[in-house]
Amino acid sequence: MIQIPNTLGIDVYARHFFSYHSVEELQARMAGGGMQPPLLHVGAGSNLLFTKDYEGTILHSEIRYIRLKAEDETHVTLAVGAGTCWDDLVAYCVSHGWQGIENLSLIPGEVGSAAVQNIGAYGVELADVLSSVEGVDLLTGHRHRWSRQECAYGYRDSLFKRPDMKHYALTEVCLRLCKRGTPNLSYRGLADALARSGQPCTLQAVRQAVIDLRRSKLPDPAKLGNAGSFFTNPVVPAAQAEALRQEYPDMPAFPAADGRVKLSGGWLIEQCGWKGRAVGDAAVYEKQALVLVNKGHATGEEIYRLSEEIVRSVDARFGIRLSREVNVF
Ligand code: EPU
Repeated sequence: MIQIPNTLGIDVYARHFFSYHSVEELQARMAGGGMQPPLLHVGAGSNLLFTKDYEGTILHSEIRYIRLKAEDETHVTLAVGAGTCWDDLVAYCVSHGWQGIENLSLIPGEVGSAAVQNIGAYGVELADVLSSVEGVDLLTGHRHRWSRQECAYGYRDSLFKRPDMKHYALTEVCLRLCKRGTPNLSYRGLADALARSGQPCTLQAVRQAVIDLRRSKLPDPAKLGNAGSFFTNPVVPAAQAEALRQEYPDMPAFPAADGRVKLSGGWLIEQCGWKGRAVGDAAVYEKQALVLVNKGHATGEEIYRLSEEIVRSVDARFGIRLSREVNVF
C-alpha cells in the first residue's frame, strides 16, 4: 500500500500508485494492461477527502512544462503540463508581465486539477483565460482536445466533473494571457489591500496582496491540514435570497449567472454556530467557516461526519443544502 498525498493530512493508502512523466508513458502503461482498476486520477490532493483506503490504482501526472505556444502584439498563449504546480505557473507569468491569473496566486494544487474544478478567487476564474485543454481517455488511450466552450465552465464546475467524463485524465492546459493587461481589482477586499499597501498597481503587487490576503484568512496546509473551501457557496433563485434577506438583512449576497444569487456558505455556517468548533480533531477553521481543518489525527470519516452535521444544520435553519467542493472517496 502507498500513502496518498492529501493536504487534509488524512492517513490513507492506495493499493497501487502510478506517476507518469509524459502522455506516451501513460499510453504505454495502459497498452501493457498494467493498471489495476478502478483508476482514480489525482493532482496534489488539495481538494480530496478519502474516507477509506483506495483499492485500485491512483494515477498522478508529473508532466511539467510551460511553453510559449503563440504570441502577438497583445497576448501570449501558453501550453502548460497538467502536473505543473499551479502557483509556480502564476509566479512565472507574473515575472514575465503576463496578466490574467495573478488573482489566483497561492492556490494549492496542480494545473490539471485547476482546469477540472475551474479554480477561482478574488474576482477571477481560470475559465476567464483558459483557451483549450488536452487529455487522454483512460479507456482507450486516445488523446482528445477540448476548446474552452466545450469545457462547459461554470462556478467551480466543468465538463470534466460529470460522471461520464471521469475516464479522462487532463494532460495539458492552454491559457491566453494579456501582455499589457490591467489587473482585475473588482473584489473589494483586494482593491482595499492594494491601496493600503501603498504600492503601484503592478502584477507583482497584486500577487503579493493576494498572497497576504490568503495567508490572513486561510490556513497553510503544511501547518494545519485543510482542503481550502470545503463547500461551494450556494447559488439560489433570486426570490429565495430575497426572502432570506427580509429575515437576515446583514446576509452577504452577490449576483450570479442567470439572475440567481450567490450566498456566502461561510456566513451561513457561522450563523449556525460552527465557526471554530471541533469534534475531536475535525474542526471548522476559526477564521473562515467554509474551511474544515484536521487539527492532528482526524480520520476522513470524522471530517466527513462533521461536514454532514454542518449540512444538516444549515439546511434546518436556512432551507439551503450546501454542496461539497471537496471530492469525497
Ligand atoms: N463570511 C462569513 N463568515 C465566514 C466566512 C465568510 O461571514 O466564516 C462572509 C463574509 O461576509 C465575507 C464573505 O463571506 O465577506 C466572503 O468570504 P471570502 O471573501 O472569504 O470568500 P468565500 O466566499 O468564503 C470564496 C472561494 C475561495 C476564495 C475566496 C476569495 C468558494 C467555494 N470559495 O470563498 O476559494 O479564495 O472566495 O475570492 O467559492 C477555495 O475554493 O478553496 C477557496 C479558498
